[in-house]
Amino acid sequence: PRVAVLAGGLSHERDVSLRSGRRVAEALRSAGVEVSVHDVDQRLLPTLASIGPDLVWPLLHGAGGEDGSIRDVLALAGHRVLGTGPRASRVAWSKPIAKTAVSRAGLATPEFVTLPQSLFRELGAGQVLDAIAGRLGLPVVVKPSQGGSALGVTLVDDATGLPHAMVDCFSYAGTALVERAVQGTEIAVSVVDTGDGPVALPAVEIVTDGPYDYDARYNPGRTEYFTPARLDEDLAARVGAAAVLAHRELGLRRLSRTDLVVDEDGTVWFLEVNVAPGMTETSLLPQAAEAAGHQLSDLYAALVRAELA
Ligand code: DAL
Ligand code: MG
Repeated sequence: PRVAVLAGGLSHERDVSLRSGRRVAEALRSAGVEVSVHDVDQRLLPTLASIGPDLVWPLLHGAGGEDGSIRDVLALAGHRVLGTGPRASRVAWSKPIAKTAVSRAGLATPEFVTLPQSLFRELGAGQVLDAIAGRLGLPVVVKPSQGGSALGVTLVDDATGLPHAMVDCFSYAGTALVERAVQGTEIAVSVVDTGDGPVALPAVEIVTDGPYDYDARYNPGRTEYFTPARLDEDLAARVGAAAVLAHRELGLRRLSRTDLVVDEDGTVWFLEVNVAPGMTETSLLPQAAEAAGHQLSDLYAALVRAELA
């Protein structure tokens, strides 16, 4: 088959996407798949129309790529597209909506409030902090309600940190998600579906000195990963089941990654789900796939075949 990989785009995660795209393209090529790689600009549709790929695989992270909009455009232009459809992408992309949806399905997710920038301006930091501290307590995590790669995410453990966290967050999105910070082990579970239904890959445990931020994510050696995660059998099964449940409940297709925290009581907390999980050298889905004994080239080619089947 001929596959057009989309990488780049204009989001804050452009660089990550270029790296994901390059890695996936190399892997597919070594599986014998014909691959072209395209940045996303005004030439995209004419270019795709002229090459007529069998399948488009958008490896685009962040706004525009992960929020369903490019998938709408590709569908309108008549392309087959690998992965989650536009509508489910939009739901998954919004952290508060995704959290609400999975909590209805029975997953625990940390309590949260959403706060538009306009309301923050109107009320001022003092009043907002009182409201947040009263409702959620401290510490809290402030994050853009839509975003990726931990950009604009800050752990706030005392009142003085809130204004800066808010300003940082609002440079990435117009609405902040303020979430009770759950102490525990950070776990990511990727799910793949090569045609027999969604299957959880081994959980990855993330251990960092500081926050698992952009630098810690993409600089080799900054973060220690344990794959499979050091969880007992019961917990390992429960985190896998949570990721598969989120994948199914949110209507995701082909691949996803769910980010979770396991607290000391063994409660599994859903944080978010990613419809375009990172596929870079340091990203979690490829690590999990290799730990499960997959050759990345074979796995990615199997995803392509399943999509075309
Ligand atoms: N947003 C990045 C790419 C990730 O979730 O892996
Ligand atoms: Mg994410």
